[in-house]
Amino acid sequence: MNSVFSRRSFISGAASMAAFGPFFQQEISSRRNAPIGGSRGPQENSLKEMASRHGILYGAAATKTHLSSDKDFAASFVEQCALLVPEVELKWDVLRPEPDSFNFQPADWLHNFAEKNQMKFRGHPLVWFQSLPKWFDSFATPQNTRKLMLNHISTVVGHYAGKTHSWDVVNEALDPNEKRPDGLRSKPWVDLIGPDYIDDAFHAAAQADPKALLVWNENHLETREDWAQAKRDRLIQNLKLRLGRGVPIQAIGLQSHLPGTSPTFNNPQFVSFLKTITDLGLKVIVSEMDIIDSDLPADVGNRDQIVANVYLNYLSTVLPLCRVPAVLTWGISNRYSWISAYKPRKDNSQARPLPLDANLQPSPALAAITRAFEEADGH
Ligand code: XIL
Repeated sequence: MNSVFSRRSFISGAASMAAFGPFFQQEISSRRNAPIGGSRGPQENSLKEMASRHGILYGAAATKTHLSSDKDFAASFVEQCALLVPEVELKWDVLRPEPDSFNFQPADWLHNFAEKNQMKFRGHPLVWFQSLPKWFDSFATPQNTRKLMLNHISTVVGHYAGKTHSWDVVNEALDPNEKRPDGLRSKPWVDLIGPDYIDDAFHAAAQADPKALLVWNENHLETREDWAQAKRDRLIQNLKLRLGRGVPIQAIGLQSHLPGTSPTFNNPQFVSFLKTITDLGLKVIVSEMDIIDSDLPADVGNRDQIVANVYLNYLSTVLPLCRVPAVLTWGISNRYSWISAYKPRKDNSQARPLPLDANLQPSPALAAITRAFEEADGH
């Protein structure tokens, strides 16, 4: 395997899009020309196939709405993905219509879709501060919330026990802007249960499904700003404390919603963080990867090349340094990406963050992700 530094110096040295233009253009045209299910077999050049050759599961987020109503999209999803994560169906506002009820129907539909199409299933999220149901604020008290959370985890994880690749047990639990010494976000879980809700959540999930990989999923860990470094530092501080007392945290989820304007990721701060995660014995799931292209040029050819280069640079930094069982993008096609709503462009054009364009054709990003898989050793 080339040394990470020599490959990364190639990438950082070839930061101009021109250096990647011919590569990605040629790669895309060959993929576009290759008929789906053509001479090289239906799946041979798919993301899931390229990833599996290096010991990595590739997958993506999707909704029941899109997979059940758009046949072409569903077919592309199945062709490219070995792993499915529900984009919204396992969130409390869908799953918990009332304090004493569960609506598993939407998530069950997705679980069945995954099983029917030989995909693995990952759960997201068990404990998050967002997407909480309307009844939560008036119902949850310091006296009842620990039981409410533990019952949620044991019921939901138990419902899919033995049939789930991994769970995002806590999601976005850190918020250094709050200035707590432990960097934890106060509302609502710390305020209602205390900072060790995290320990309780992981122990409950481990008890409900000993087979599932248990993940602490976080956003904004990837970039160079001081606040991102503060978040990395607080995460490591929490991990050392909690692992030290036997909390079954087994992996870190790097959400990886990456700014398209990101400078190279192979910088000492991020590399040191990744090495520490590995040294703590933790795996890494790239859990929600996409590229925020709101500040990129309007010209779609140029924009696509920049997006592709960010994918290549990022994965070429993470994959060699970490044990990565799975890489997921947050969606598979620009036809349905949350980025257009989350970070709309001033020109109101559709976001172009994902491996398939809005017509379900390979984008330069797909070639870039594939290349990163090819250059990484399987873990
Ligand atoms: C987003 C979904 O993509 C949107 O459709 C929904 O309206 C809000 O949540 N980090 C996460 C994901 O962990 O659950 C979020 O998903 C995106 C940011």
